[in-house]
Amino acid sequence: MRIILLGPPGAGKGTQAVRMSQKLGLPHVSTGDLLRQNASSGTPLGLEAKDYMQKGLLVPDGLVSRMLRDRFAQDDTGSGFILDGYPRNLKQAEELDKLLKEDGMSVDVVFYLEASEPVVVQRLSGRLVCRECQANFHRQNMPPKKDMVCDRCGGQLYQRSDDRPETIKKRLEVYRSDAQPLVSYYEKAGKLRRLDADQKLETVLDKMVGFVRSQDDSLKV
Ligand code: AP5
Repeated sequence: MRIILLGPPGAGKGTQAVRMSQKLGLPHVSTGDLLRQNASSGTPLGLEAKDYMQKGLLVPDGLVSRMLRDRFAQDDTGSGFILDGYPRNLKQAEELDKLLKEDGMSVDVVFYLEASEPVVVQRLSGRLVCRECQANFHRQNMPPKKDMVCDRCGGQLYQRSDDRPETIKKRLEVYRSDAQPLVSYYEKAGKLRRLDADQKLETVLDKMVGFVRSQDDSLKV
């Protein structure tokens, strides 16, 4: 199954993708994580991307698409994936279709996580991320057992530099300008499933996992 998670910053794409990946045994591919890894290891791609990310802007399409092509060249995505953070605009959606078509594949389902602005602002401003394994926590909604220490791997937690109030505002603006054409694109293709992502994490997760398993018997546990 080739699954896309769509939705505004803070809708829960990354958090849900990690949990879905564990339940369904499909790899989680996050363009945001890949860009942050490149930025922190100082690759030419990461250095170019860093400035855009810190301003809350999209990284140029060509750069992200090349990075995704490299990621898809790895064996683990052959039987499917959970894509988080890509596509962000129509051009990227078309690029993804082209990329998959080269291997005779296509997107199976797009979960559109709809979340309201006050909820996403609260979630992003309290989010904590592990430097080592990228696991997500939240100061109030999902606090780690030990202050600023990852429950999963013991790594140090930090606040993303783009989770500052002024950058959150810019990211939401950028999202709003590109989201509707993307939603219409997948709606017309009959692939879009809307979910109320203001709901509890488990409620949203169960709906997505239930739908995927109803479509693909091999993913049943
Ligand atoms: P990216 O990392 O993709 O960020 P984003 O899309 O802005 O999304 P977030 O990671 O902020 O939100 P999320 O929906 O994953 O929320 P999360 O699960 O963490 O991109 C960052 C930047 O990289 C972009 O701005 C851009 O510059 C660049 N970029 C990336 N992809 C690109 C592309 N394709 N093209 C160009 N540029 C690109 O949840 C947030 C918090 O809420 C967490 O603390 C979580 O614990 C909590 N939470 C989540 N769900 C719930 C719930 N149901 N109930 C209670 N708490 C919850």
